[in-house]
Amino acid sequence: MTKNRVVRLKNRPVGLVTRDDFEIGDEELPELHDGQILVKSQFISLDPAMRGWLNDSKSYVEPVAIGDVMRSYSAGIVEASRHPKFSVGDAVTGMFGVQQYAIVDGREALRVDASQAPLERWIGGLGMPGMTAYFGLLDIGTPIEGETLVVSAASGAVGSIVGQIGKNMGLRVVGIAGGPEKCSYIVDELGFDAAIDYKADNLNEALKEHCPDGVDIYFENVGGDITDTVFNHMNLGGRVPVCGMISVYNATKAPPGLRNVRSILVNRLRVQGFIIFDFAKRYGEAVKALGQWHADGKLTMREDVRDGGVDAFPDVLNMLYSGENNGKLILRL
Ligand SMILES: NC(=O)c1ccc[n+]([C@@H]2O[C@H](COP(=O)([O-])OP(=O)(O)OC[C@H]3O[C@@H](n4cnc5c(N)ncnc54)[C@H](OP(=O)(O)O)[C@@H]3O)[C@@H](O)[C@H]2O)c1
Repeated sequence: MTKNRVVRLKNRPVGLVTRDDFEIGDEELPELHDGQILVKSQFISLDPAMRGWLNDSKSYVEPVAIGDVMRSYSAGIVEASRHPKFSVGDAVTGMFGVQQYAIVDGREALRVDASQAPLERWIGGLGMPGMTAYFGLLDIGTPIEGETLVVSAASGAVGSIVGQIGKNMGLRVVGIAGGPEKCSYIVDELGFDAAIDYKADNLNEALKEHCPDGVDIYFENVGGDITDTVFNHMNLGGRVPVCGMISVYNATKAPPGLRNVRSILVNRLRVQGFIIFDFAKRYGEAVKALGQWHADGKLTMREDVRDGGVDAFPDVLNMLYSGENNGKLILRL
């Protein structure tokens, strides 16, 4: 009988997750029923939102219940199938959870072409983070050629794609990232026009220098002080796709709110939150466009793949909040 190594939520974390917040152990795999597939996961996606899924508060999805398998996007290979559309050996992605094996309804899995790109990329730039960048920038940011785009967490899974799509759309693109390595990566390798190291530079002065015509689109990934400062530079009619606010995901008391609301008023900003699920009916469109840019050499994607199996999940997740990841953070099983 195949053993499954599984990560279940034991108690709700306070601040950063710890190993003690999870029960990690071996379990028997149940039998496969009609319509189901057995997937052996090879890669688990680490996403900043995972921390929010552990809080018992109103959100866009139900929290992970105590005792449930930790929710995650994963990529793997079908090992057994009782679904007519899947065969053994198919590469698939889906919300398979932080576990070695998953038995899921075939309707919950998406077949991907592992000959077009490495399997892990289908949970990165060609998967959920890439699609988030695509819809967030194009639909919510509504870019016009020649405008200036500022994106935070700019070297990460979502931000790096946002900036490159921005360049493909003819925008001036300025990225905000932590540290010299990430800043040179986005300019030298991804083609951003400028980078600002928010840990070393004076953000306000740097925005003045690198955005001489002001900011038309601010793609928001981090929240906190960075947002207030960028709002000082927004142009009339600017757009702010609110994608995430990683700086507050581990807060143990209510973080200070946005102070620069005045900028929304005087500049008539459109500040709009979105969740990738809002675009579920159009995922195919995004995957096609991202795949084409990627094939044409107009979209570079970088994964940061860590080893350690499911047991390493809590420690690897925390790398997102310390900025230790360089690109899309993935756990290899
Ligand atoms: N709306 C949606 O549907 C959706 C979907 C996917 C992701 N998101 C959001 O998109 C954002 C980026 O996610 P991702 O998956 O692409 O992660 P990522 O950018 O690959 O990794 C997270 C990065 O955030 C930065 N960061 C961490 N703490 C920070 C802080 N206190 N202040 C400023 N920057 C900080 C770090 O980069 P530095 O070293 O540069 O600080 C870190 O590497 C997150 O807010 C996430 O929740 C939203």
